Amino acid sequence: MGRFSKVSMNILGISCFYHDSAACIVQDGQVVAAAQQERFSRKKHDPRFPKNAIKYCLEEARITVQDLDYIVFYDKPFLTFERLLMSYLTVAPKGLRSWLEAMPLWLGQKLYVPKVVKKEVGYEGDVLFTEHHEAHAASAFYPSPFDEAAILTIDGVGEWATASYGFGRGKDISLLKELHFPDSLGLLYSAFTYFTGFRVNSGEYKLMGLAPYGTPKYKDLILSELVDVKKDGSIRLNLSYFDFLGGLRMTNRRFARLFNGPARKPETEVTQREMDIAASIQAVTEKIILRIANHVYAETGQKNLCFAGGVALNCVANGRILREGPFENIWIQPAAGDAGGAMGAALSVWHRYLENDRPNPNGHETQHGSYLGPSFSNEMVKEFLKSKDYPYHELHPGNRARIIAEQIAAGKIVGYMAGRMEFGPRALGARSILGDPRRGDTQTVMNLKIKYRESFRPFAPSVLEEKASEYFDVDRPSPYMLLVASVKKERRVPQPSRDGMSMLERLKAKRSDIPAVTHLDYSARLQTVNQTHKPDYHAIISEFEKLTGCAVIVNTSFNVRGEPIICTPEHAYQCFMRTEMDVLAMEDFVLFKEEQPPWKEGDDWRSELELD
Ligand SMILES: [Fe+2]
Repeated sequence: MGRFSKVSMNILGISCFYHDSAACIVQDGQVVAAAQQERFSRKKHDPRFPKNAIKYCLEEARITVQDLDYIVFYDKPFLTFERLLMSYLTVAPKGLRSWLEAMPLWLGQKLYVPKVVKKEVGYEGDVLFTEHHEAHAASAFYPSPFDEAAILTIDGVGEWATASYGFGRGKDISLLKELHFPDSLGLLYSAFTYFTGFRVNSGEYKLMGLAPYGTPKYKDLILSELVDVKKDGSIRLNLSYFDFLGGLRMTNRRFARLFNGPARKPETEVTQREMDIAASIQAVTEKIILRIANHVYAETGQKNLCFAGGVALNCVANGRILREGPFENIWIQPAAGDAGGAMGAALSVWHRYLENDRPNPNGHETQHGSYLGPSFSNEMVKEFLKSKDYPYHELHPGNRARIIAEQIAAGKIVGYMAGRMEFGPRALGARSILGDPRRGDTQTVMNLKIKYRESFRPFAPSVLEEKASEYFDVDRPSPYMLLVASVKKERRVPQPSRDGMSMLERLKAKRSDIPAVTHLDYSARLQTVNQTHKPDYHAIISEFEKLTGCAVIVNTSFNVRGEPIICTPEHAYQCFMRTEMDVLAMEDFVLFKEEQPPWKEGDDWRSELELD
């Protein structure tokens, strides 16, 4: 939006009070800014009212609260309340404790969203509401490159819906069918996340990463005992094994008996049982998603699919929809979880409530690479560095990419911050930590010395879009790291028999010529980097290729375990100094660890971060 063009309509979308609260501004139908509250408040998955994210969005749009025409909330709290009440009555008095624990928040805030909005941001107008899955659906369809598409949303639970499908055409979205609580694929996956000792609504990604270490030996047991999968992909959970109607836990004793023992305690050793469970629930999930995809295709007759909701972050399943499913194309909202609901709600008001046309996107998406958050100019970075007296070197457009690439090629781990922050859970080269994928030790060093996280967790490759098919079995861009593809056969190294090998031994075995980004099953969760969307990042990988012949680098989010991804130069510097990162590049400035003054901080900063 040009500075002098007059904007006639400002819509603010908000999602909050469950997990990953966020705000998004849509001006005359264009997404101008979107960000998650956690990046500002520094509390991971922060569910609180997104006050700072709203403040940022207003600043980016150069408006004040008084300029807002509509505020829209991504969920209908009264319907969710009704679901909680009905669930409680179903199991009463068993769920009394969790019911009582949830009530203060409901009576204090959740039921009174308009009042909270008025109080927190001083807004006097009406607050609109969309339904939860409607917001997810809008976030999947409107920014997509398709004029017409089938739409699928799958998550834990919204008000009542746990999945929905329909189709979009132009400005219209029609949702045809919903699956209702408690039958939920998202909750099923989360129950296993809980049972394997990871954190619900956050550790699902770890469970997916663990799956290739196991064999799906419990798959049939899950399908016979826990979940009945119908022909159309809809499911029915056997509630005698779960505890999410009334309990504070997700699974019960009967569930534990089925898997030969209690849930793994968080932070204890991951055993073969958890790996096999992970492989099993992942296999079941993929089976269900593929069945749903086939059904949605048959019902809508569309060749394109738009997908959102927390389950759409399961990039392994997404890769299978693309390879084995009926759709020609698939577009997934990168902020597929509840954060994206803020964007969906705002776009929904523009197109559905105000009935504004949506121009035919003609194959061009409007997510802008998901670089929709705050940026910091060279002047701001310089001012920060000078004010703190931190030694730095200034780079010039002519040598910037080259110098950063040289560091990566020399085996250095580089913190990289440039341009607008990503919207959604993945770092896409604006707030990333970069490394050399060819080195055998990169994965272990990055996991243990930089991220302070579990050693089994794989890293993602960023590859030049135009070179992607030389490294991976992929025939299309994957700009949002939401698709998994295999490393090409000729790059693989045959693996010895895994029997009797520990997880760490298996991890150390070289799997390809880019071992740091090749998972145990030769898969990689790919980001293709496009010159138009992210020229600075594209230039670094290009220079890295000139130096090494390799058009791939390792990309992991710029944070340590339990910490939200960094936002500002200050966050970046702090993370740089807290870890064994070697180099920090912020816009056109580069800092070397050995030149920095000693970092003084309490030894227990890590204990302040909640484990994720
Ligand atoms: Fe959701």
